[in-house]
Amino acid sequence: MCGIVGYIGKSSAPEALVRGLRRLEYRGYDSAGMAVLENGSLIVSKAAGKVASLDEKARSEWPEDRFQNSRIGIAHTRWATHGPPTEINAHPHLDRSGGIALVHNGIIENYRALRARLESQGHEFLSETDTEVLAHLIGACDQGNLFQAVCDALHQVEGTFGIAAISADEPDRIITARRGSPIVIGIGDDETIIGSDAAAIISHTRQVIYLEDNDIAVVTAEGVEIRDLDRVPVTREVAELGFDAEAAEKGGYEHFMLKEIHEQPDSLRNAIRGRLDFNLGSSVLSGMGTSARELAEIQRAVLLGCGTSLHAGLVGEYAFEDLADIHAEVQQAAEFRYRNPLITRSDLVVAISQSGETADTLAAVREANQKGAFVMGLCNVVGSTIARETGRGVYLHAGPEISVASTKAFTCQVAVLLMMALKLGRGRRLSRDEGVRLAREIERIPELVERTIRQNEAIAALAGRYAEHENAFFIGRGYMYPVALEGALKLKEISYIHAEGYHAAELKHGPIALLEQGTPVVALANDIPGKDKTLGNIEECRARGARILGVITEGDEDARGFVHDAIAVPACHPLVATIPSAVALQLFSYHVARHRGCEIDQPRNLAKSVTVE
Ligand code: F6R
Repeated sequence: MCGIVGYIGKSSAPEALVRGLRRLEYRGYDSAGMAVLENGSLIVSKAAGKVASLDEKARSEWPEDRFQNSRIGIAHTRWATHGPPTEINAHPHLDRSGGIALVHNGIIENYRALRARLESQGHEFLSETDTEVLAHLIGACDQGNLFQAVCDALHQVEGTFGIAAISADEPDRIITARRGSPIVIGIGDDETIIGSDAAAIISHTRQVIYLEDNDIAVVTAEGVEIRDLDRVPVTREVAELGFDAEAAEKGGYEHFMLKEIHEQPDSLRNAIRGRLDFNLGSSVLSGMGTSARELAEIQRAVLLGCGTSLHAGLVGEYAFEDLADIHAEVQQAAEFRYRNPLITRSDLVVAISQSGETADTLAAVREANQKGAFVMGLCNVVGSTIARETGRGVYLHAGPEISVASTKAFTCQVAVLLMMALKLGRGRRLSRDEGVRLAREIERIPELVERTIRQNEAIAALAGRYAEHENAFFIGRGYMYPVALEGALKLKEISYIHAEGYHAAELKHGPIALLEQGTPVVALANDIPGKDKTLGNIEECRARGARILGVITEGDEDARGFVHDAIAVPACHPLVATIPSAVALQLFSYHVARHRGCEIDQPRNLAKSVTVE
């Protein structure tokens, strides 16, 4: 969603800001803006649309020396919430005097009341945003000290914020603060960079500080001083980012999504490395921070997530029940929080989130914590809010995922859930031998994915046959049901084809009415328990004119005979097979979207990290 960049230091601030914004483009946005200080004056430029338009506009509006000489500034990419994506609504917003500029992520819940109060004091607003209200509030609190003014204003605010502010009167500092919306500060060499995520910082430095909720920092070119909102100094550790600038670039691929699909053998190796114990037939997940006895006391597992992460949870549900004899259920994070869920101290709650910032998942984590459950995070972004608030869990180590459509995070989530199920299972139902066999299968995952990716060109060729349709169905059963849901989500979000995932048996309870001559049906017909029934469902679809693309097991000529086109994935443990099957469908969706000329990495209306409910 929205992105923040701040820069103060030895280089040109506008150039550093635009570079940072480009790194945040993947998050999804619809307008952009920046403000810099030069020679005691505040200069602002904003544009609806892309960062490239902002760059062009600022260069044409500002004299060349402004670009080169300015050393301090803040910038923003906005994903519209309050008011449409116009130039007026884009950030930065200014206070009444025009001397203070503010960028803001999050939502000020009481902005209407604050706005009414300020209007009664004579303030006039140009935009419809909550952020402009906060900018005016800061200005109204300002008595010659921006830090104090921001503190005073934030005390009056309800809601969430990650902010950065500058003042024409204090050209040597940026004030930044967070509550519920991340802020990372990069400590460089004679420069300090602020980002709402580390991608904005990585081309400057790998040394970072993550602000915690209610932290407020004075950022100068020399470093950072952090306090809480009551102005009490606090210490935050300097951490080292686990990736470099190259990892956040396309590296010769046409799209980040294609790059990330191809990265999966490596990301899965990283997710699995050092975590399998072939001696005990178990997994080593020290981040779970549990003893065998605590694990044995778990009565139920609740897996929470949204979107793709929810689908990974569905595979986990099967794995926890089948391997570990633990009653498991997946719940949409958005629903969990508001339904007053029944949770006990013997429940394990696993919050699954690539970004670790998804508002609904975070709220669900807080609810589960309130109710005393044993809560774990399964996140990709190190130091993210969910990772920190759960306090224990397992990182995916998938590396930065830039494409809005999640690929490598999904497969790593499934791999980690399988390793969790193995560990839980060894405390219960699984024998050592069974554990060793499963560990060997999990170890094969990177190679199985590599073999699937080798079919990229063949998949590209067959995708063309499906690209002209406006509706598609994905069906599967058992372990492949979640893969069908995920396949449909991937196709719809990047190709804009209306795609529905169904349990193979459900189709005839309604959706089959929609099948017409040529309607694409993607069938997960892997050679796993239930295959024969799925083949029967394929027959039903064919009889109604559907064109069937089957995901089948290598060498299964029987299944091949039922489908029009096939992608074969290597034979392996049926739970493990979910991963290469999902990869096959990622490639399929990618190539369909490419045939249709879609904007694959940043689909319309979507954001990478959904930080509003
Ligand atoms: C789809 C996709 C989304 C995310 C969802 C949750 O490709 O990426 O459905 O999975 O927004 O995001 P995280 O995992 O960051 O909580």
